[in-house]
Amino acid sequence: MASNRRILGILIIICLLAQWACITSDEENTVPGKNGVVVSVDQYASQIGIDILKKGGNAVDAAVAVGFALAVTYPAAGNIGGGGFMIIRFPDTREAVAIDFREMAPAGATPNMYLDEKGNYDRAKSYLGHLAVGVPGTVKGFEYAMQKYGNLPWKEVIAPAIDLAENGFVLNKRRAKALNGLKQIQKLSKNFEDMITKSEEFFRIFSKPDGSEFVEGDIFFQIDLAESLKLISNQGSAAFYEGKIAELIARDMEKHRGLITKDDLAKYEAFVREPVKGNYRGYEIISMPPPSSGGTILIEMLNVLEGFELGAMERYGPEALHVISETMRFAYLDRAKYMGDKQFGDIPVKRLISKEHAQSIKEKIDLDRAIPSSEIGEDILTNEKAKETTHYSIIDKDGIAVATTYTLNGGFGSFVIAEGTGIILNNEMADFNMKPGYTDDKGLIGTEPNLIAPYKRMLSSMTPTIIVKDGKTFMITGSPGGRTIINTVLNVIINVIDFKMNIQEAVNGYRINHEWMPDVLIVEKEGINEEVIDSLKSMGHEIKTIRSLGDAHSICFDLGTGKYHGAADKRSSGSAIEY
Ligand code: GLY
Repeated sequence: MASNRRILGILIIICLLAQWACITSDEENTVPGKNGVVVSVDQYASQIGIDILKKGGNAVDAAVAVGFALAVTYPAAGNIGGGGFMIIRFPDTREAVAIDFREMAPAGATPNMYLDEKGNYDRAKSYLGHLAVGVPGTVKGFEYAMQKYGNLPWKEVIAPAIDLAENGFVLNKRRAKALNGLKQIQKLSKNFEDMITKSEEFFRIFSKPDGSEFVEGDIFFQIDLAESLKLISNQGSAAFYEGKIAELIARDMEKHRGLITKDDLAKYEAFVREPVKGNYRGYEIISMPPPSSGGTILIEMLNVLEGFELGAMERYGPEALHVISETMRFAYLDRAKYMGDKQFGDIPVKRLISKEHAQSIKEKIDLDRAIPSSEIGEDILTNEKAKETTHYSIIDKDGIAVATTYTLNGGFGSFVIAEGTGIILNNEMADFNMKPGYTDDKGLIGTEPNLIAPYKRMLSSMTPTIIVKDGKTFMITGSPGGRTIINTVLNVIINVIDFKMNIQEAVNGYRINHEWMPDVLIVEKEGINEEVIDSLKSMGHEIKTIRSLGDAHSICFDLGTGKYHGAADKRSSGSAIEY
């Protein structure tokens, strides 16, 4: 019991750490760019992306350079020990590809691996320590993207990240605060199982040797990470999946009873997939297919909303909020029922994104009443997910567009760094369904499509998305936020298309979120208007407020200026830079 409370405390602090990465700022961050725009959560990373474009790199080179840089400067979510997705669209062929570098379960994983001897779900095991780690995909994904679509040499796009790790970077107030927050986890976790031993390397790297607090202006070095990046620079992904890094990860796993072996690492592959596509009021939507639920559920929701005169409603009035919320409710039920890794079973994507399916949902929506989720969803409940991830958007002078969302899952992942690597490993295993066949009102889900199996990829909600109008890239967007990601992306898209906001207004505008279960409409605090809330309550909505939802660094084409505008989300210290 005591240890359950301790774990809860640790998980709450992890959530707070994630929020620290997303504090509201009042800065207006929109920038126009003709030759290229990079928008990410971090100033160093965005600048590196722009420098790569200036050197003649294309948007893919820039995306990979930004990804490596964020692994150094934004360790809460930027990573080479996690996984993610990248959508790339080429203006000449008008084709788009989806690169899947999602983590996978190791060979030794089983559906019951997070259940204790009494068959109860042991939450800590799936979030903290070595058992929580999925086989990472980022390095393979980046290498694949560069080999197929990049212009510059591999070494050139990694060099800036090596420099930041080896020579350090200056901590801003927010990053210093996030690192200091880790101390609280360390204190809470004392005596808790062997977490401290498992995470010794992590806390060594992310603490000051004299135990003092980090302050704004400190220079933060990551020497081991620099060495790992150099190996990857010299040997390619082989260093990570077969060479010294694989050796160090496998050794650490063995020492701490983790499952990942050298063979698991050697078997990992990144895939190129056909993006999932839809059409919304004349705009083409291109997004991520399974193993993400993001693109499918986004398109399903847009199809339903197309049946309503959304633009004629007041954006934040009860009518629009009710319709949007009910749409989310029905689509997230489908997410829970059907979505998973399609290599392991049929996923009815085609049906879910069809206009007929949308029409059938539209007919079920009651304009006067919130339909209780239990009325439409038998007894399938969904599990609470960690919310730390990061998204960045890039377009280059030729119009190549890249939307990348990648993640360690929770803020700082599993808190595991294999000794000698400096690489934070993910806790993505927690994105699987945890208890086969068992659902309860605490949030456990036991549905089949997302149960754990060897080499299976856990279901994601990441939704990197490119929107096309009249054959030209119109918008690039995406967000962190666990299961709420798809709804954040939806909020941003309708703000632009239906409510005619400019991209900065659309990104900054307050958001709502409904995930079918729990049956609660979440509203960002900033957007609270008591009259509207009362109206929604009278329709049957249970309302909860939250400080911030998502972090959607986006780009949009402006017909007026003929330029792309980058908008960093006001919820983080993001950075949009033009070239
Ligand atoms: N770990 C968050 C996601 O993949 O949706």
